[in-house]
Order: sequence, then structure tokens, then C-alpha cells
Amino acid sequence: MLSNVPAYVFCVRGHIKMLILLITGGGFNNADYFKNLSRFFSCKHIEMSKVSSSDISEAELSVVDLKGSSPTSLKHLRAVTSADKGAKIVCPLTKGDRWEMVQSGTLGQVKHFDRAKGFKALVLTIREFIGKPDCDLERLQNSSKEVQQAFHKSTALLDDLPFAATEDGAISVALMKQSASALTGVMQEEGISAWLGAVECHHSHTFRHSLYVAGLVTSFAQHLGWSSEHQTMIAAGGLLHDIGKTKIPLAILDKPGALTDEEFDTIKKHRLFGEEILQRANNIPNEIKRMAVCHHEYIDGSGYPYGLSGDQLGPTVRVMTICDIFAAMTEERSYKSPMSPRVAFANLIDMGGKLDQSLVKKFKDIVMDLHSSQPNRSAAVKRSPLKQAKAS
Ligand SMILES: [Fe+2]
Ligand SMILES: [Fe+2]
Repeated sequence: MLSNVPAYVFCVRGHIKMLILLITGGGFNNADYFKNLSRFFSCKHIEMSKVSSSDISEAELSVVDLKGSSPTSLKHLRAVTSADKGAKIVCPLTKGDRWEMVQSGTLGQVKHFDRAKGFKALVLTIREFIGKPDCDLERLQNSSKEVQQAFHKSTALLDDLPFAATEDGAISVALMKQSASALTGVMQEEGISAWLGAVECHHSHTFRHSLYVAGLVTSFAQHLGWSSEHQTMIAAGGLLHDIGKTKIPLAILDKPGALTDEEFDTIKKHRLFGEEILQRANNIPNEIKRMAVCHHEYIDGSGYPYGLSGDQLGPTVRVMTICDIFAAMTEERSYKSPMSPRVAFANLIDMGGKLDQSLVKKFKDIVMDLHSSQPNRSAAVKRSPLKQAKAS
């Protein structure tokens, strides 16, 4: 079931840098929704008077908020945008505001957006205008129909999470169940290797991580002989376990270089953010919430942020923690090489009483299958396993 994992499973490639330039004439706080855009795209904010033609050409797309712009900064922006005829620009406008309409018309290839349509519509407009899929669709064709369906359902769920995480949003339980059920079926029929072949097609490592962890926990639950109900539960938990990351700017999550200590601390907050989001999600089973809230706790009480220990951490949380750490260690990031499954497993053993070692022993079968498909990979990573695990 777990054999023949493709050699490219842990490699980062095909990452599309979706840099969105946020240009304001009246200050960042004048356009509050800009802050939320950073959770959907890798964003950079720049004052209109300071933007350069290279800023524009390096970005996939620019969002220009004209509110409060001075004639001088508008003149500067016109000069800069006229140098790049292919630049894609979205201008949020207030319906009936003639000044905004006229000014935006002087900026080149501009797509107008009616502010009244709301934030979600703005995100979808930007995605559509960029016009690039989030994954390598051609390569995904190599997967079976069932795997593709499970992949599309799962990524649709992950895509929707930043909206679901807003104050008035809600996680789609129907989509969550469909994704988890499709994933469980794929694991049963085709095994994790087939799933990982599809996971690798996604361009965002944050998405790949959640998809990878969901595959690992489902596979492990099947290996442990858990009921199909529990398998579906843990598959959903794997997809949602890092829901708190939807509150963290993508520029940090997808940062191409090493994280600063401050950025690392921000990422660590994802577990607390997840708790905040899930507290108001009355439609999500408590078991799934526990997996998201407790996956950085350790059995000896040394985890964070509550230092829960022993029986306070149930079987699904214990499995989630093992798989999450293993995934973090074996994934390649721009700032680190992937560990081989065998070395990563040795680290799980070295973690001793932090993890349920009786479960770690059973996890060995999965690790050995992964290792046998990649016998030559033995790179060591520079960051400590615990530090990686805390960021996962
Ligand atoms: Fe994680
Ligand atoms: Fe996490």
C-alpha cells in the first residue's frame, strides 16, 4: 500500500511567486481590507509616491486604492504604469465616484472593482485576473480520477478556509466531509504514494503541508486498524490542523529565505489563532478541534502553549503530532533540505517521552516504505527538529 512513493515527493518545485503590490495614495490604514489580502496572496505595500516601474513589473498584479491620493502622487503613478503596458491593475472603486473612475482610467490595463461587492469578491477578482492555477494541472493528469477528485475537494476546502476564518465566515462541513471521505477512499484503494504524487502538484508549500499531513494521518489510522469513521475524522483533522495559519501573512508563510525570530514567533501563534477560529465553529466536531488546538503539545507537558500532558492528549492528537513533526522534517523548504524518512524517524525516537513512543514504533512501517522509495536521500537539515516541528 505504501510502496513506490515517487522520488519527487519532498521536492519543492514549480512554486509561482504571486506577489501582489498594494499601492495606496492615502496611507495603508485608509484601505483596511489590504491587511486581509496578505492572508491570500504574498503582498507588499507601497506608498503611491514611492512606487517604481520595477516594483510594478516584478509584481503579478497591483491593487491601487486611489482614496486620498494627491495630484502629484497620481502623476507619478501614471508615469510608472505607462512604462509597463502589460501591468495588471485592479482598482477598487465606490460606485458613482466619478473622480475615482476618471483617475483609474488613466492607469492602463485596469480592472475596476465595485467596493460594495465585498472582500471575498475582491479576492476572487484578483485570482481570476492573475489567471494562473495554484497547481500544475498538466502533471496532476498523471493521477487517477479518484485522486484528482480528492485533491480538488481538499484544495477547495483549504482555499475556502481564510474566508471561513473571518468573523462572519463558517467552515463548510459538507465540503470537509466530502474531502475527508474522498481522501480516506484514495488511501484505502491506492495508498499514500498515489496521494503524494498529486500533493506535489500544488505550488504552495503551506497547502502541500496540510495535504501531506492529512494523507499521513489517514494512512497511519488505516495501518492502526481504526474504524472508517475515525479515519474520516482524522483525515478532516489533518486538513484543518493548521487552520490558524490563515491569519498569518503569506509573505511570512511562503517566505523564500530563513525566518527571522520574530517571523518564527508569528508562525508559532497559528495554534492560538486556530483555537480562536474554531471556538466559534459550532458545526465542527470537538475531536477535530482538539487536533488543531493540541498538535504542538507533548505528552511530557513540554509542548505549547498550555503544556498539556499524558491523558489530556488523546489518540488522534498523538497521531497528528507524530505525523505533523514527521512531515515538517521530511519536507523541503527554500531554507532547508528535506530529511530522509529514516533520519526523521530517528528524531521521533530521540524525542522520547514527548511523543507516544508506542505509536512511533508502529509508525515505523510507514517510514520504512517511504525510505525504501528514496534510498539515496540522506540530507541533514540545519534547523533542529523541534524548531521545525513548532513551525509546522
Ligand atoms: Fe502542521
Ligand atoms: Fe501546526
